Amino acid sequence: MWLAAAAPSLARRLLFLGPPPPPLLLLLFSRSFRRRRRLHSLGLAAMPEKRPFERLPADVSPINYSLCLKPDLLDFTFEGKLEAVAQVRQATNQIVMNCADIDIITASYAPEGDEEIHATGFNYQNEDEKVTLSFPSTLQTGTGTLKIDFVGELNDKMKGFYRSKYTTPSGEVRYAAVTQFENVIDRKPYPDDENLVEVKFARTPVMSTYLVAFVVGEYDFVETRSKDGVCVRVYTPVGKAEQGKFALEVAAKTLPFYKDYFSVPYPLPKIDLIAIADFAAGAMENWGLVTYRETALLIDPKNSCSSSRQWVALVVGHELAHQWFGNLVTMEWWTHLWLNEGFASWIEYLCVDHCFPEYDIWTQFVSADYTRAQELDALDNSHPIEVSVGHPSEVDEIFDAISYSKGASVIRMLHDYIGDKDFKKGMNMYLTKFQQKNAATEDLWESLENASGKPIAAVMNTWTKQMGFPLIYVEAEQVEDDRLLRLSQKKFCAGGSYVGEDCPQWMVPITISTSEDPNQAKLKILMDKPEMNVVLKNVKPDQWVKLNLGTVGFYRTQYSSAMLESLLPGIRDLSLPPVDRLGLQNDLFSLARAGIISTVEVLKVMEAFVNEPNYTVWSDLSCNLGILSTLLSHTDFYEEIQEFVKDVFSPIGERLGWDPKPGEGHLDALLRGLVLGKLGKAGHKATLEEARRRFKDHVEGKQILSADLRSPVYLTVLKHGDGTTLDIMLKLHKQADMQEEKNRIERVLGATLLPDLIQKVLTFALSEEVRPQDTVSVIGGVAGGSKHGRKAAWKFIKDNWEELYNRYQGGFLISRLIKLSVEGFAVDKMAGEVKAFFESHPAPSAERTIQQCCENILLNAAWLKRDAESIHQYLLQRKVSPPTV
Ligand code: BES
Ligand code: ZN
Repeated sequence: MWLAAAAPSLARRLLFLGPPPPPLLLLLFSRSFRRRRRLHSLGLAAMPEKRPFERLPADVSPINYSLCLKPDLLDFTFEGKLEAVAQVRQATNQIVMNCADIDIITASYAPEGDEEIHATGFNYQNEDEKVTLSFPSTLQTGTGTLKIDFVGELNDKMKGFYRSKYTTPSGEVRYAAVTQFENVIDRKPYPDDENLVEVKFARTPVMSTYLVAFVVGEYDFVETRSKDGVCVRVYTPVGKAEQGKFALEVAAKTLPFYKDYFSVPYPLPKIDLIAIADFAAGAMENWGLVTYRETALLIDPKNSCSSSRQWVALVVGHELAHQWFGNLVTMEWWTHLWLNEGFASWIEYLCVDHCFPEYDIWTQFVSADYTRAQELDALDNSHPIEVSVGHPSEVDEIFDAISYSKGASVIRMLHDYIGDKDFKKGMNMYLTKFQQKNAATEDLWESLENASGKPIAAVMNTWTKQMGFPLIYVEAEQVEDDRLLRLSQKKFCAGGSYVGEDCPQWMVPITISTSEDPNQAKLKILMDKPEMNVVLKNVKPDQWVKLNLGTVGFYRTQYSSAMLESLLPGIRDLSLPPVDRLGLQNDLFSLARAGIISTVEVLKVMEAFVNEPNYTVWSDLSCNLGILSTLLSHTDFYEEIQEFVKDVFSPIGERLGWDPKPGEGHLDALLRGLVLGKLGKAGHKATLEEARRRFKDHVEGKQILSADLRSPVYLTVLKHGDGTTLDIMLKLHKQADMQEEKNRIERVLGATLLPDLIQKVLTFALSEEVRPQDTVSVIGGVAGGSKHGRKAAWKFIKDNWEELYNRYQGGFLISRLIKLSVEGFAVDKMAGEVKAFFESHPAPSAERTIQQCCENILLNAAWLKRDAESIHQYLLQRKVSPPTV
């Protein structure tokens, strides 16, 4: 393949980075993914449920593309030339291809050894992102060459072939040309004078077109060679090569780790990781040229905080996993997107655990992915992991917590059920069998079944083909020396009980532990019916029994009161393992939200965490208390819940103090930031005073705040500050050189309480100062920051809907914006208002998100009605007689 590009003012470090030697595609015909088998199914309407949509016909298919692109970084346009070897499988006089936002100038087809036939009509179906080329005579079966000349615009929507704005070290504004093709279903572009530089790329392996990438711009880089001989580079903005070193180290360790895990080498000679200023997703796994947001790749040893380091490690681990799982083997259709994303979201943890065992990252998986997935999947408006997808607008909406976090959680459960050895064996069989081909979910199950001899498809179909997950109810009876457990399963619903005829059932791998050895499963069973009795041999009457060791099974547990009573001391004396303490608390919290138990019960359990040392356990508890605070911000006893937060967090706050102690590590730094932020936000007096003092020193340059303390301090002073504090923060934002620092500030701005200042923050969100992909977190921060902020953010979205919608062109960022902004409401009529607004302002890619938000609003309202009074009473009463520690 060859590429050419204009290099007007970019004499210095002009780079053309393609995937190793990429492909190109641009206009893809025959369908997005490489074709393999199931040809008979091509062209079938995939899901006429919402909008009718047909996959591309299979009568003409591409064999090899050669693509020339000539971007103009001054005019923001490009010219392209495509020459593709194609095979006509069935005589036809038209070719249907994917195509979006480009204009075809000429198109012709030349059968091998014959004359060119010029296309006489280009019929664009813009909605479906397709074009049909019509030819005046029939194209006979056989191979030939398709030539297309086209032009397009380098857009500013962070999709397709687009422009990304950056400022040079001398302050000059310039643009890079960047591609983002997933989930653009293979479309948008591809295409001499002596001022031009031409860069040619070699031919790629057979690959999917959404994995092609080009970047044209100025970058510095750091480079190394991994142990297994792959040339690894991290490209950074000019002058910031140092900031690429951390990711470089992670990438160089990760490649041999995956090679070993899969027993399949990385298939290309090089891999580049590049930081892109304007970038919609977090990162994109283009084959050999992985693109990242700056904050997902760059680490400055002095100015980056511990959570950024961890995030970079996870994202690098995620995207590099796709080089095998996704790129070498691609899903057959978007229905199987979860295979890509769920798998990568699971193995990124395995990889980070390998590179940084001190992160205790698997515990963090539970608070980050597992609980998030359960929260969403308990809604009536959830969807199965394997979901039928037709129209392109339906693709955007499945990049959600079900595909990612539930996908990862059920793979984690499966890995535990199979065991690492057989799991690895099955992975190798799958990747070897389907390399350079497409695969579907059942193909993975088949390989894992062959490797393990276990009924993988039967078990997993219950998790991927139906939405939701079970609530396991368990009660126990001592029968002489043994413990008899009675288990039953029914669907867990965020609204309480399942309404409907046949309650879905799951095949649930269940582990059971006892206080004799809290870290070891005493018994493992596969629960394959609605009810089951289990006998645990030799369990003394004073021993506790717990389900779901390690919080690995994707279900919630409801214990009989006697069983729960016996478990609670294990929280206080820490004899339950951390991830089990976390899981227990989280289950109880969600049972309370669903109205199955009372919220006051959960508050009492939260008070038992007084001796808790573990960061992740605190993080999850903090998150749940945050949800409760938001709920109670609808009442007039919001202050009382803040008192509760202060009481719960002050003992650990005092133990930790403000400054790191010798020998502390990564998790201590995370914990300190979390606890001080929580105390400061709740208005804990001593924390507030110290935060103000340190902020002043920071601003005056006397003592710069360590990166790990910045978010909690910024949040605290802003929430309890005035217009001057906000102005100082905005000034710090302007001065910040690192995008990480800008984001850090942007995310806390919404904490401000005064209506005028809230308005100022919202206006700022849409200003030139905030990168387009970050506007979402500024507005979301306002909505989550305060009661007034919630109302103001919603009004702002309504008032600026056109601009926001246009900015993200539908896209998944619009779903995130909507979710962050409306989910906190807890009044029935708001659900109606949100629904009505989106009926008159359609956002097709966010349809399901909107339904989920409305459901959540109604659930919040019901929760408030049900429990507000008893919570209030409890908070008042504990003021009078505080619980004894
Ligand atoms: N393939 C995705 C990027 C993507 C997301 C493309 C949405 C199109 C639409 C990539 O592998 C990914 O999952 N990125 C994540 C980061 C990851 C660490 C979870 C993202 O962008 O959020
Ligand atoms: Zn991914």
